[in-house]
Amino acid sequence: MRRLIGAVLIALAVFLVRAEAENYPSRPITVIVPFAAGGPSDAMMRILAEHMKQTLGQAVLVENVTGAGGSIGVGRAVRSKPDGYTVSFGHLGTHVANGAIYKLGYDLVTDLEPVALLPSNPMIIVSKKAVPATSLKEFLAWLKAQPSPPTAGTAGAGSGSHIAGLYFENVAGIKLQYVPYRGTGPAMNDLVAGQIDLIVDQTSNSIGQVRAGNIRAYAITDSKRVESASDIPTVDEAGLPGFHMTLWSGLWVPKDTPKDVVAKLNAAAVDALNDPAVRKQLENLGLQMPPKDKLTPEALGAWQKAEIAKWWPMIKAANVKVD
Ligand code: MLT
Repeated sequence: MRRLIGAVLIALAVFLVRAEAENYPSRPITVIVPFAAGGPSDAMMRILAEHMKQTLGQAVLVENVTGAGGSIGVGRAVRSKPDGYTVSFGHLGTHVANGAIYKLGYDLVTDLEPVALLPSNPMIIVSKKAVPATSLKEFLAWLKAQPSPPTAGTAGAGSGSHIAGLYFENVAGIKLQYVPYRGTGPAMNDLVAGQIDLIVDQTSNSIGQVRAGNIRAYAITDSKRVESASDIPTVDEAGLPGFHMTLWSGLWVPKDTPKDVVAKLNAAAVDALNDPAVRKQLENLGLQMPPKDKLTPEALGAWQKAEIAKWWPMIKAANVKVD
């Protein structure tokens, strides 16, 4: 009798999960952005969320849960119910680099289910306006002439701006003093105010301030110029050949989220990326669309693993200290 009751309860539970998945979504969805509002990750996700809500027929809300290079926000998503109502926004920093820096308490590959690869951001080398340099070569000379390490704003250890800073130190043979913020949105405020010397930032975050003449831009860390900022040279043109880094982003959900829920979220993200108005908004910020053959959940999973293999050795060699 007891076994029969057990079997009925299990069947009921499976039925309920299936029923919920079939009716998904039946209430608003929250996307956890692990960096401060107003920054590049927040801006991209809010543009996509506006369109995803049309496809999904439910509000897609952005919640900023910040700290520890984004690892706190990702942890919140990992621990949430695997029902598709909590989604983790992240990027090369949060879903690759942090695994080589922090004792996360979760596994970036096995505790999360990939949903969709999102646009990538070429990085840009920018400084406060007061720096007396008008080219990358002059800027490098200025950096090397400073009596103490110049201050570089980041979104915390392991964030995209931090990894880009480590890479910049490596290729330029300089030493930087990192100043962590809860996102490069707040870091940008201090750069404009001249409180810090530089950021190796996501182009989409800097482009507005560059155009307004509030900060100086020296080079894009890519082999090709950004169409919407074609006056800014590449590192290859500006004298730091090969310093290439674009920060790709993506969406994940907690492991054990039903496959058809993952498929619905993926379809909504792909729909948004295929929408001409959404593309125009994102490209105007300097963002690059993901390749068409990398838009499946499996493609993001494979890409994340390949990036872990590529970046962990460099990051571990940098021996980043976190509290
Ligand atoms: C942000 O939105 O603040 C960034 O993604 C931070 C970073 O990783 O540099």
